[in-house]
Amino acid sequence: MKNKSLVSINDFTREEQLRVLEVAREFEKNPVQNILQDYVVASLFFEPSTRTRLSFESAVNRLGGKVIGFSEASNTSVKKGESLRDTILTIASYSDLIVMRNPVEGSARFASEISSVPIINAGDGANQHPTQTLLDLYSILKTQGTLDNLHVAFVGDLKYGRTVHSLVIALCNFNTTFHLVSPVELKLPSSVKMHIKERNLTYHQYTDMTEVIPQADVLYMTRIQRERFSDPLEYERNKNSFNLHRDMITETKENFRVLHPLPRVNEIDINVDASPKAYYFEQALNGVFVRQALMALILGVR
Ligand code: CP
Repeated sequence: MKNKSLVSINDFTREEQLRVLEVAREFEKNPVQNILQDYVVASLFFEPSTRTRLSFESAVNRLGGKVIGFSEASNTSVKKGESLRDTILTIASYSDLIVMRNPVEGSARFASEISSVPIINAGDGANQHPTQTLLDLYSILKTQGTLDNLHVAFVGDLKYGRTVHSLVIALCNFNTTFHLVSPVELKLPSSVKMHIKERNLTYHQYTDMTEVIPQADVLYMTRIQRERFSDPLEYERNKNSFNLHRDMITETKENFRVLHPLPRVNEIDINVDASPKAYYFEQALNGVFVRQALMALILGVR
């Protein structure tokens, strides 16, 4: 993995993904180490973020590295019309690794093709969010004891949900049965379903989540994302499609857990938070260890 970019989850093989999870386990036991003291990581966020940006920055800080970057492109020369190409060429000369979130699908791939340092895609529009997938896999492994042969239910905006796209593709390596719950207008794109079909795996589509919950090992809730809709009426029609309450998860499998990449709006009631089956805040914490592992492997210090 040394010097490799991570743009799409398929840029890493199944074995490489599992290696990241194995190293993340080491960092979870010992998260403060001085192994990045000679490295500068650039954190370029052209789109809002809480967890991804700050968990990357926390990961670098706990490993003794330095972070440069921005959380708003409006404070940079992008505001003066500078291109993404020139921004990346410049910042690659200031840093050893670039973490970038950008609203344009394909922007991270473009950056990886011109950059002299590795690029980690922290989300490119509605396309992919591969580091979220690694922490989702880590969270599933920790809660289920395995990644193999699970029933995973995805609920919400499966059309524009980049975390869903990347995780579905990754889980195709683990003989998953997929339960896809969404409004009719927000179904999983055919391009992602194609990965499931290629592996001869099974998926079922629903518009109501109640029938799925008793079968699921993992319930992966997602937000209906206002910022992805070009038609505001489409958002209005779909925004309140799902609302998980605590009484809906009483009759579940013993190992059942609720995951969510966060942020949530109203798709999970806060009364679910106190349930031992709610795992989304632990999932967000896992992001620090997984991102420590990923950067250490790419920078060649693990
Ligand atoms: N899960 C996730 O990407 O959250 P942020 O948008 O807060 O980074």
